[in-house]
Amino acid sequence: MKKLEGKVAIVSGSGRGIGRAIAMKLASEGAKVVVNDLDTAPAEQTVADIKAAGGTALVCAGSVTEDGFAEKFVKTAVDGLGGLDIIVNNAGYTWDNVIQKMTDEQWNAIIDVHLSAPFKILRAAADFIRFNAKKEADAGQEIFRKVVNISSIAGTGGNGGQANYSAAKAGVLGLTMALAKEWGRYKVNVNAVAFALIKTRMTAAAAGGDATIDIAGRKIKSGINPDVLAMMDRMIPLGRAGTPEEAAGAVYLLCTPESNYISGQTLLCGGGFSM
Ligand SMILES: NC(=O)c1ccc[n+]([C@@H]2O[C@H](COP(=O)([O-])OP(=O)(O)OC[C@H]3O[C@@H](n4cnc5c(N)ncnc54)[C@H](O)[C@@H]3O)[C@@H](O)[C@H]2O)c1
Repeated sequence: MKKLEGKVAIVSGSGRGIGRAIAMKLASEGAKVVVNDLDTAPAEQTVADIKAAGGTALVCAGSVTEDGFAEKFVKTAVDGLGGLDIIVNNAGYTWDNVIQKMTDEQWNAIIDVHLSAPFKILRAAADFIRFNAKKEADAGQEIFRKVVNISSIAGTGGNGGQANYSAAKAGVLGLTMALAKEWGRYKVNVNAVAFALIKTRMTAAAAGGDATIDIAGRKIKSGINPDVLAMMDRMIPLGRAGTPEEAAGAVYLLCTPESNYISGQTLLCGGGFSM
């Protein structure tokens, strides 16, 4: 039997990068997965790839920051796949600037996607989790559910040029610790994984600094200067950036039964690098 057989997972931002690798990994271990992304085509591709590999998945496209999205995401899992056992808050992007040039819009957008959206998704799941945990406790069962919030070394140590992102990624660690205390009685393990440098669209080399990504019609500068990437590779004890699959491995560990007595923790997945 696979480790996550019978479990239902929701993974935000799983059309690309780390989120896609998490969705694929959870599905390969038997979980049924609701795949979300702002961009419908990549989300549909992840679902098609999970199905092609013999798994079960549904799409719930849209922005995690939209009003009502959190409730829709939870409902897709409960009504469409029959439950909700694993919540991975992964969706996001960066929109950097030094503080004197950072607009309110830039600040709010990044806090919304990395901090407020996970809060709203977890709040939307609360009724289902509380109701089912009470039912299971009454039946003498101890069934563990899992929350994994995605953070960053910007959240554990701060990063210049990323006041918005560092604040949001530190905030999600506070949310993780508080909810671990609130939901312990419901047997929910609430943890975070903080990444250093994982090779994805977000961290792709941007020579000349002119690469952009499209976030709901807004062109946002993305990527990291190739010289900075090369320097980071030298600073990472394991000698290179991680792959999305290696990143997904860290999240998977916190979704397995072996992590049932771990809660309120941040796992640093950075090839030995920390700050
Ligand atoms: N790549 C890294 O080195 C690194 C390091 C630390 C933390 N992280 C975190 O890992 C997570 C995944 O990043 P990634 O590197 O895979 O980036 P990525 O750009 O490859 O993938 C992120 C996905 O999230 C989606 N997304 C963005 N905004 C969204 C929204 N409002 N609603 C729904 N989907 C949305 C994007 O469309 C994209 O498909 C992010 O939370 C990021 O902050 C990444």
